Amino acid sequence: MSALRGKTIVVGVTGGIAAYKAVDVCRRLVDAGAHVVAVMTEGAEHFIGRTTLSALCSEPVQSSLWDEASPIPHTRLGQRADLIVVVPATARLIGAYAGGLSTDLLTNTLLATRAPVIVCPAMHTEMWEHPAVQDNLALLARRGVIVVEPDEGRLAGGDLGKGRLASPERIVAVVERTLGRGDLGGLHVVVTAGGTREPIDAVRVIANRSSGKQGYAVAAEAVSRGATVTLISTVELATPPGVQLVSVETAAQMEAAVQSAAETADIVVMAAAVADFRPTLTVGHKLKKDDGAPSIVLEPTPDILAGLGARKRPGQTLVGFAAETSDLVANAEAKLRRKNLDLIVANDVSASGVGFQHDTNAVCLLRPDASMVTISLTDKRSVARAVVDIVVEIRAGLS
Ligand code: C5P
Repeated sequence: MSALRGKTIVVGVTGGIAAYKAVDVCRRLVDAGAHVVAVMTEGAEHFIGRTTLSALCSEPVQSSLWDEASPIPHTRLGQRADLIVVVPATARLIGAYAGGLSTDLLTNTLLATRAPVIVCPAMHTEMWEHPAVQDNLALLARRGVIVVEPDEGRLAGGDLGKGRLASPERIVAVVERTLGRGDLGGLHVVVTAGGTREPIDAVRVIANRSSGKQGYAVAAEAVSRGATVTLISTVELATPPGVQLVSVETAAQMEAAVQSAAETADIVVMAAAVADFRPTLTVGHKLKKDDGAPSIVLEPTPDILAGLGARKRPGQTLVGFAAETSDLVANAEAKLRRKNLDLIVANDVSASGVGFQHDTNAVCLLRPDASMVTISLTDKRSVARAVVDIVVEIRAGLS
């Protein structure tokens, strides 16, 4: 069965010559069983007629914030959508979306959604190559927006170059892939990644060697298997497409972000290396070397995962990580019980190629029933796959 059947897809159409190809995209999505609602910008109406799109979509085209029977169309559409695809996306739309400007129904809808968003730029090569456009697209990509790169070819006015809208086939394939229901379909997964940084003074922090790569790999794996993923991170790696990123720095900020996201989470994977201690006081200015070595008094940070474990909702699955340098299994088992976890991923970070900063990892996956799976040295995405496989197995046992 098509991944699109029964899905509500909002197709945003902006004012570029390629707007006529949006008609084909809408038709293909409807044919695949999706409920398609087109939202046109004012510019789009200069290129194609509303009647054409309305006739092909599942509902009449929407374009205004103000002419709706419903008083709040700007939030309703975004909330209803399982996915939004903007085809074509002009430089103006890309700039407004990146800058958070909600000036019309389409930009409002884009800002009022948690659904995955795909933008399909189309414009002249000069505009496509302009640093403002490229920077805005890079910013959107960091936020998890999927960008379908334009093709090279003939452009409006007979020019040749990059900027031609991707083919409707390619756009629909990206939509299908993004909505493709895997075994985590319909679930909200919260993943943490990276080491927290606890400030000593205005410039210095207590940090650790975590790179965040394993957490990012878990987020990428979860989203590719159909989950809605919130990634709470202290590092600046490329956000996997479709993942919602929340950037934090300290354990306290991470705790607040995790607690809020965990309210709706079915699965929480705490891959972050949270500092266990932080300075009791943070000096607001830079400590002077001439004043001598400071005495830094430390206090424990909140144990975020233990807090979640204590308040675990029925049906929620909690996964912790344990980076150890000795007694791997015994230490990890103790954490599994103390924090009321469903799974712990233990790695011996003293072994070569394992854990912090590496692209590879070797882990033991332990469950409360004492079952243990060992994954020998492999890339972090494969470790992520093994972790998600076991989470799916655990959840199958719940039903
Ligand atoms: O006890 P330990 O810090 O080794 O436990 C590691 C696990 O607990 C990791 O999943 C880590 O993300 C989580 N943790 C936490 N809050 C802390 C310390 C660790 O959630 N303050």
